[in-house]
Amino acid sequence: MGVIFVAVVTIVGAGVIGVSWARLFGSAGWEVRVSDPRPDLRELVARELADLSVTATADLAEAATGADFVQEAGPERVEVKEQMFATLAAHTRDDVVLASSSSSLMASVIARGNPAADRIVIGHPFNPPELMPLVEVVPGPRTSEVTADRAVEVYRGLGKLPIRLKKEIPGFVGNRLQKVFNDQAAYLVQQGVIDVRDLDDLVRASLGLRWATVGPFESGVLGGGPGGMRHLAEHVGSQLSFEIGAPDPARMGEVLDAVEQAYGTGESAYERLADLRDGRTRAVLKPLGWTDPATADSRPQ
Ligand SMILES: NC(=O)c1ccc[n+]([C@@H]2O[C@H](COP(=O)([O-])OP(=O)(O)OC[C@H]3O[C@@H](n4cnc5c(N)ncnc54)[C@H](O)[C@@H]3O)[C@@H](O)[C@H]2O)c1
Repeated sequence: MGVIFVAVVTIVGAGVIGVSWARLFGSAGWEVRVSDPRPDLRELVARELADLSVTATADLAEAATGADFVQEAGPERVEVKEQMFATLAAHTRDDVVLASSSSSLMASVIARGNPAADRIVIGHPFNPPELMPLVEVVPGPRTSEVTADRAVEVYRGLGKLPIRLKKEIPGFVGNRLQKVFNDQAAYLVQQGVIDVRDLDDLVRASLGLRWATVGPFESGVLGGGPGGMRHLAEHVGSQLSFEIGAPDPARMGEVLDAVEQAYGTGESAYERLADLRDGRTRAVLKPLGWTDPATADSRPQ
């Protein structure tokens, strides 16, 4: 009988993102180790990751030892990440990729003073990683080619669409786009133009559906008819010359109050909304081709 090699992944942090990564790697046949100091770690793993090969420990050095890949999903605070990556560097082999899920911190910042900077790369998912196809792979100036290539290979093996940025920038691409969009949404609510729920419905019924099928540039090509995006830019686009404004940071409390009033807060509201989102996401992934690796990143010719 041949020996079956089972790769080991260490997931650092068992919050919203870490648990979802753990489910994804575990479902793909990886042996998963989860590390988090939270006191309810064992109960959480038993509840959320039952039926998968998962071990849990608060001791990061122990969880990292012998890992073949590390996916960090701890708090978004640079000093915490620096500390976690120092431990990871000291307790992993020198061929092991140390990927951070960070939403905005660059690899060059997280890797400051780290002897394993060449192995540190951003592998930024969209929430929830187990369903959303994209992982942004963002190497820093000291990240090696081998590290970025290996990260792309691992994410592709999990059925994801890894997109590798040409250079690092805070917020990467997904969250820079999202920030512009979310700032404008808050501004419109603050200005009394639209309510929270109507704004969400407006987006779901238009831009959300459109961007699930074509990207913004491709949409520009189609919006211009046979004249393409150039026609659109010269005609409709040239008239979109208003000031877009920015939300007032001192009045963000009003926006948050309105969001909580619309959707509720706490465990049961979260579970209800997450189930709704996951059900809808699952329903569209297959028809859009995301569950078939052969067609997932096929582009129109
Ligand atoms: N929430 C999102 O939508 C989202 C999306 C993409 C990426 N991210 C990124 O993923 C990371 C995790 O975000 P989250 O939303 O899951 O946060 P979270 O607050 O839900 O979870 C963070 C977890 O890290 C744990 N932790 C604290 N100190 C630790 C340590 N020293 N070692 C190990 N674990 C530790 C906490 O106990 C907590 O369980 C962040 O870097 C964030 O920017 C978040």
